[in-house]
Amino acid sequence: MSMKAVVIHEAGAPDVLKLEQRPIPTPAVDEVLIRVKAFGLNRSEMFTRQGHSPNVRFPRVLGIEAAGVVEACPSGKFQPGDKVASAMAGMGRDFDGGYAEYTCPKAVNTQLLTTQLDWQVVGAVPEMLQTAYGSLFKALKLVAGDRLLVRGGTTSVGLAAAAIARNHGCFVAGTTRSSSPETAELMHKSGVEEVIVDDGKVADKVESGGKKFDKVLELVGTTTLKDSLKCAVEGGIVCMTGIVGNSWSFQEFSPMDVIPHCVSLTVYSGGPNEFMETPLNELLKQIEAGTMPVQVGKVFKIDQIVEAHETMEKNLARGKIVVLTE
Ligand SMILES: NC(=O)c1ccc[n+]([C@@H]2O[C@H](COP(=O)([O-])OP(=O)(O)OC[C@H]3O[C@@H](n4cnc5c(N)ncnc54)[C@H](OP(=O)(O)O)[C@@H]3O)[C@@H](O)[C@H]2O)c1
Repeated sequence: MSMKAVVIHEAGAPDVLKLEQRPIPTPAVDEVLIRVKAFGLNRSEMFTRQGHSPNVRFPRVLGIEAAGVVEACPSGKFQPGDKVASAMAGMGRDFDGGYAEYTCPKAVNTQLLTTQLDWQVVGAVPEMLQTAYGSLFKALKLVAGDRLLVRGGTTSVGLAAAAIARNHGCFVAGTTRSSSPETAELMHKSGVEEVIVDDGKVADKVESGGKKFDKVLELVGTTTLKDSLKCAVEGGIVCMTGIVGNSWSFQEFSPMDVIPHCVSLTVYSGGPNEFMETPLNELLKQIEAGTMPVQVGKVFKIDQIVEAHETMEKNLARGKIVVLTE
């Protein structure tokens, strides 16, 4: 029995991703065999493809997340036909992941889903909502009434964070380098009330407006982090979760200069526990009810995986990129 799978044999440009026939995996007693219906693309997979994940051995089926239907579950934790989603815990890194018709994660790292939403929406959410939800509530300790700034407000994680925070009773501002009305409209649709065009000096604009932020979600990375720290009020929290700016570190780091008086700096690096703690069914219900917007930027078929990675690399999606297996 074989399946379609996207296999990477060597690092490189998007066209190193090859659609091949692979044996369908057999689940061990603590695993669940999922017939993958949809999977979201993640920038960490792009870094792995580019050769920046030395711990990932090739050949490998990439994909740190997947959503689909249970085919078999030897432990009985799930029944055949159950809708489920799984993410991380080595998926697509230590074992073959979601870029395939079947994947076989540990049952303990898999959530049962009750939603009736289309697979393109369900496939968009596992890692995106885990990251947004965990950053907001675990790292930033978001409370109703907070003023939140999302640096990197058009990222799929940023748009999801804006929607969750707005529903939680927060004021949300978001940054983008774009001044186009379409971008502002997309952000407003996700709950961003104030769109700030990012010229690298957002703190000047925030200070001249006179109202800093209680919480700042940093998704661009160290290229903007110093400026983002200056956007926080005394007692505020800044969380670095993403690095779409492609820079992980400061050349020099002088905490007394970089971190303003009594502002807390933290990071969020969600893992399998955070995935399992994310109330996916509750959030999916809100999406179904139309009270939580989710931005699916582009949808591809599995045989368009090269184009899908090119779209991610060129930042053309404006929302989550989702791949359907059929
Ligand atoms: N810590 C965790 O647990 C975790 C988990 C998942 C993801 N992440 C990280 O979260 C971040 C967001 O992921 P995503 O998939 O949501 O991203 P994404 O949707 O692919 O982000 C695309 C957006 O990034 C912005 N961007 C691209 N290059 C930029 C640059 N050089 N400077 C400033 N902005 C730039 C663009 O916005 P504009 O053109 O509008 O400015 C673009 O619309 C990534 O860094 C990802 O690795 C972290």
